[in-house]
Order: sequence, then C-alpha cells, then structure tokens
Amino acid sequence: MTIRRFAVLVAILAASLAIAAQAPTTLKDAYGGSFYVGAAINTAQITGSDARGAAIVAAQFNSISPENVLKWEQVHPQPSVYTFDLADKYVEFGEKNHMFIVGHNLCWHAQTPDWVFQDADGKPITRDALLKRLHDHIFTVVGRYKGRIQSWDVVNEALNEDGTLRHSKWFEIAGEDYIVKAFQWAHEADPSAQLNYNDYNLENPEKRRGAIALIKKIQAADVPIAVVGSQGHLHLDWPSTDAEEATVTELAAAGVKVAITELDIDLLPRVAPNTADVSLNVKADPKLNPYAAGLPADMQQALAKRYASLFAVYLRHRDVVSRVTLWGVSDADSWLNDWPVVGRTSYPLLFDRAGKPKPAFDAVVKLPTQAVKP
Ligand code: XIL
Repeated sequence: MTIRRFAVLVAILAASLAIAAQAPTTLKDAYGGSFYVGAAINTAQITGSDARGAAIVAAQFNSISPENVLKWEQVHPQPSVYTFDLADKYVEFGEKNHMFIVGHNLCWHAQTPDWVFQDADGKPITRDALLKRLHDHIFTVVGRYKGRIQSWDVVNEALNEDGTLRHSKWFEIAGEDYIVKAFQWAHEADPSAQLNYNDYNLENPEKRRGAIALIKKIQAADVPIAVVGSQGHLHLDWPSTDAEEATVTELAAAGVKVAITELDIDLLPRVAPNTADVSLNVKADPKLNPYAAGLPADMQQALAKRYASLFAVYLRHRDVVSRVTLWGVSDADSWLNDWPVVGRTSYPLLFDRAGKPKPAFDAVVKLPTQAVKP
C-alpha cells in the first residue's frame, strides 16, 4: 500500500471513530436500547398550531400520551355523543412519527361528566347501568383505535393514600369489581393492547402495597395487566432515589413492567403534602411563585442533577422499565403552571419556555453514555 493510500485509510478510520464516539443528541436515541421516552402532548401540538412544540416531540421522543384529548369528558361529553376529532389527529401524529402511542385513560373519577353517574332525572344510576356505560365506553373508544393505540391506562387513580380503594362514584355505585371488569373489557376490545394501571404517589409504601394487591387481584381473575404506571409527579427532595428504586423493583416484582407515565419535577413551594390530586385548588400568593422572573442558575443545576439521578435509577432497571414519559414538552405547557395554584411560573420539564433544551436535558441525554453505578 502506498503511503498516500495508507493516510487516506487512517483518515477514514479516524472520522468514523469520531462519529461513533459522538454522544446521541436526542432522548429517543440516547435511551433507544433501554426504554421508550415519551411526552404528553396537548391540543396545540396535536393540531400543529404549536409547530415548535410538535417539532420537538417529533425530533426527541418515540412515544406520546394524550394530555387531555382521550379523557371521558372530551371524547364522550354526552350520553350518545362521541367526539373523536382531536383523538384521531393525536393517533395520526403518532403514526406519522412511528411512535408508541398511549391512551389515557378509560376510567377515572376526574374529568368524567356527571351524567355518567346519573339517570335522566339526575338521580344516581344502578350498578348494572353504570357498568353498562363503562362497558360501552371502553368498547367504543378502544375499539376505534384497535391495533393503533398500543397501550391503555385502563384505570387511573383508584387508590387512597393508605392503599385502600378510593370511594369514587365508580366504587360507590359499582363496587370494587369495576376495576377487573374495565381491564377485562379493554382486553376484549383490543386483545393486543398493553393494559396499564396508573396512579401517583406509589413511592409511598402504603399506597404501593395497595397497588400491588390490586395488580394481584386482576391477575387472579385471569385478566391481563401488563404495566403499572407510576405517574412520577415528583419534587427536588421527594422521593429519595432509594425510594424511587424501591418503587420500581417492588412494583416489578408483582409481575408487571413499570412505566413512569407522567414525570415532572416541581421546584415551586409545596402547598400540600405530596400529591397529584387534580381537585386541589389553593389561592394564589406571590410567596408561592418565587421564580416568576426566571429560574436562578443554582436551581437549574439542582434540577439537572435531580433528573440525572432519577434517570440513572430507570436505566439501572431497564430490564423492567418499559417507558419514561414526561408530562408535557416545554415548561410553558406544564399543568404545574396552574395546579395546585393558578398562574404560577413552573420549571418542571426538560425544555424551557422558548423550546430550548435546559441543563436538565443535557444531563439526561448524556447519561446513558456514562457509567450508571448504583
Ligand atoms: C392533568 C392535565 O395535565 C391538565 O391539563 C388537566 O387540566 C388536569 O389533568 N394525573 C393524571 C393526568 O393522570 O391526567 C393529569 O393531567 C395530571 C395528574
């Protein structure tokens, strides 16, 4: 070989090594071998009126969840009225971008119209009538997207903090087996769909024990449940990474995969014990909104560190973690700007209000190329 040829060969080799050594720059590439990374998307992203947000989702994520468009009040606002326009567009967005598409949710106590639980005179309906409504809703909604929505949150937030069953209208009227029935009907409506139980505060041992008992009850009834969704509405100081690790391993030991379904990290002052109870509504007060003019650099760094340590837990358990979904795209989209206090300026996600990646994004995206030690 001539010296010239040798030099060319060396140059080609060096260039390909440099490419190989380049760390991935997208979340979906960084975690591609481990689990899906998703985002909850809103109406503006679904319709494209938020073109910037939609482009971030398409570039960075390989799974989507519908922030609101598949909830009962939106998709089934009146007894014989189904409105599928936005839900159809949501699914089309996911298909166009070859994404793992999540349905959220089929049975919940919130964002469900009152008529569901009432007869024509506004009186409570019977157990049989309520179960028939649930059955018909599930068959209509799951059936419409059969083979297209890969994963359904079948029942959302059925547990109290102490692990007992929440006394929602579902429970009060239909009794506890509404849960097993919902899973059974979702399975019948689309036998290939992955079915999830989804809840918050599963980091608390008592509530987690309740979730595990519920999973076992569903399994004992011979009804498939594939995933437990741990919502992951977290704070800087809660839960500890050890508690997050225990949450993942104990839930997985029940024989299901674990998905982190609604991850965000709240930096604002707490107004209540850790919760994601959507009915909470606390009066606004400037003291509760300390970063209205911007997030100090040390808080940015603290958020980045916190995100990296949580993703390190999920990476270590990639054998059982199937997906990590952020509850929103940019900080401007987050529900935490208006919950539990309306009109705050919140910083819980990986992209800032201008759609730029934050230090937390950089920390998360480079993590898989670094060693992840316990
Ligand atoms: C939230 C949405 O983000 C808000 O836009 C809506 O007003 C209320 O619901 N747990 C859930 C999600 O399962 O559906 C909730 O989403 C957040 C808490």
